[in-house]
Amino acid sequence: MSIAVVGSIHADFYVKVKRFPQPDETIIGSDYALYPGGKGANQAVGCARLGVETYIIGAVGNDYIGSMLIDNLARNGVRIDYVYKANCGSGVAFIILNEETGENMIIVSPGADNAVTPQHVEDSLKNLREKVKIFLTQLEIPVETVYRGLEIAKEFGMLTILNPAPARSLDRNIFRFVDIAVPNRVELQQLAGVKIESIEDVFKASEKLLEWGVKAVVTTLGSRGAAIAAHNIKTVVGAFNVPVVDTTGAGDAFVAGLAVALLENREIVDAVRFANAVAALKIARMGAQSMPTRSEVDDFIKSYERVVVEPAGQPFQ
Ligand code: RIB
Repeated sequence: MSIAVVGSIHADFYVKVKRFPQPDETIIGSDYALYPGGKGANQAVGCARLGVETYIIGAVGNDYIGSMLIDNLARNGVRIDYVYKANCGSGVAFIILNEETGENMIIVSPGADNAVTPQHVEDSLKNLREKVKIFLTQLEIPVETVYRGLEIAKEFGMLTILNPAPARSLDRNIFRFVDIAVPNRVELQQLAGVKIESIEDVFKASEKLLEWGVKAVVTTLGSRGAAIAAHNIKTVVGAFNVPVVDTTGAGDAFVAGLAVALLENREIVDAVRFANAVAALKIARMGAQSMPTRSEVDDFIKSYERVVVEPAGQPFQ
């Protein structure tokens, strides 16, 4: 069975700095480096490197960057049958990476992301309906395309995963078509309209999404791991502690790991643990698509004996 990812495809222009600049300040950074990126493409590469047949549905520009991005996807084993070249520039992201902490600031210029239409997604999913079991999407393409994709994927009986990133307001009706939502803390706060200062707040906010129709909310909490909220479970699965090189794409690695584990019918706590391992291996490397292979993840998990499951109610540091 396969995974279909509907989403963005970018070139990421990185510059490393020792600290982030203030407004109106100029600072000198490193030489820039160009890496493949985009949340959709990152998640598709993540799934493919974990050994699952993965289709990406999206668009690049009709420029040299577009050709480079398509070649990169194909090299990573992603099926590019439903990627087209739009009559505009490719999507790019400008990433400032703090080399002291591994944290980043990102500005996206969507380019061809904005050319991914509901019709293109609908036509692609119609062709793929016999093969695809999991449908995965994010919010770097037009919202109406995300809506239609989720709606039709549900109609075709696929398990739908929405990574609502970057944060934006959504019509709550969309959640009727979402089986699993995977926000980070900021995105959850914005979606639910609940201020989040503790794990209890995460569960309170998740409750809203559950009321709106989502079956499970898995909130990524950075170095604290991820919180799972569903009607029958509320728990936190602790992160693996690794040295941080680059957090760009960590959320994408997590989503890819989660999708692959769910495709294999793993139960949710085990799936989140697997996803945490994929994210941990990613953040130890530069570039959003430096996703681990299946054997790297399996070996990594074996090297850990236990995962800390924290009780609810802990405040954030
Ligand atoms: O999630 C990380 C990604 O966000 C980067 O690769 C960048 O392209 C932006 O889309």
